[in-house]
Amino acid sequence: MKIKVATIFPEMFSVLDVGIMGRAKQNGLIDLEIFNIRDYSTDKHKKTDDAPFGGGAGMVMTPQPLHDAICDMDKERKSKRIYLSPKGETLNQKIVERLAKEQELLLVCGSYEGIDERIIELDIDEEISVGDYVLTGGELPAMILINAVSRYVEGVLGSSESTNEESFSNGLLEYPQYTRPQEFMGLSAPQVLLGGNHKQIEQWRLEQSLEITKQRRPDLYEQYIKNNPVAKSGKEKKR
Ligand SMILES: C[S@@+](CC[C@H](N)C(=O)[O-])C[C@H]1O[C@@H](n2cnc3c(N)ncnc32)[C@H](O)[C@@H]1O
Repeated sequence: MKIKVATIFPEMFSVLDVGIMGRAKQNGLIDLEIFNIRDYSTDKHKKTDDAPFGGGAGMVMTPQPLHDAICDMDKERKSKRIYLSPKGETLNQKIVERLAKEQELLLVCGSYEGIDERIIELDIDEEISVGDYVLTGGELPAMILINAVSRYVEGVLGSSESTNEESFSNGLLEYPQYTRPQEFMGLSAPQVLLGGNHKQIEQWRLEQSLEITKQRRPDLYEQYIKNNPVAKSGKEKKR
């Protein structure tokens, strides 16, 4: 998958050189290209921001360097162009899965008070937020998006890792996980996981998932029950 990023802080993206992401880049599964918006500025000081019309605090990213950068990065207009913004649709697993099907993503990172609105009108397909809070720039949100989407690109996760049985994959939060040792600080791993009866393990995990989701994310639980009316958390069944 090809992912292009427009930013005024290209050096921040070195974070993606390590771990699973680093391996995916090295193996050519993720082709990540970072573009410095400043390189496109026609201002003699390479400025990329100016004071907002109408007054107010902070600076706004000017349209010229952004527009020229985006047009150069996506000459054939084949990228899904995304502006990371707190005003966008909140990122979730469904959006991640949808974006993972795109051939090419172009991510625009804002800074200061954000970017000139005309860039959104002219050049952007979609605005995405990583949550209801404000960060100083779009770089961390872009990296979150890249990381989440990359996990769905074939070959990125090793055979032992999978996107199938995880929180949100079936609409529920994941069941608790345990590993060796069997006893730790007086706490035992659940007996059912040690017995090797796969049917019982599967049943236990589903019940745990239902219970955790009901407690922590009633919104997801309600939706799941609507779609799977026979499934109900253990406690509810006993009533
Ligand atoms: C300080 S923020 C601008 C916030 C803007 N003035 C507002 O109130 O909506 C600077 C940049 O950080 C990025 N950003 C901040 N919070 C974000 C979030 N929750 N999701 C995605 N991007 C975010 C955006 O690219 C934004 O242009």
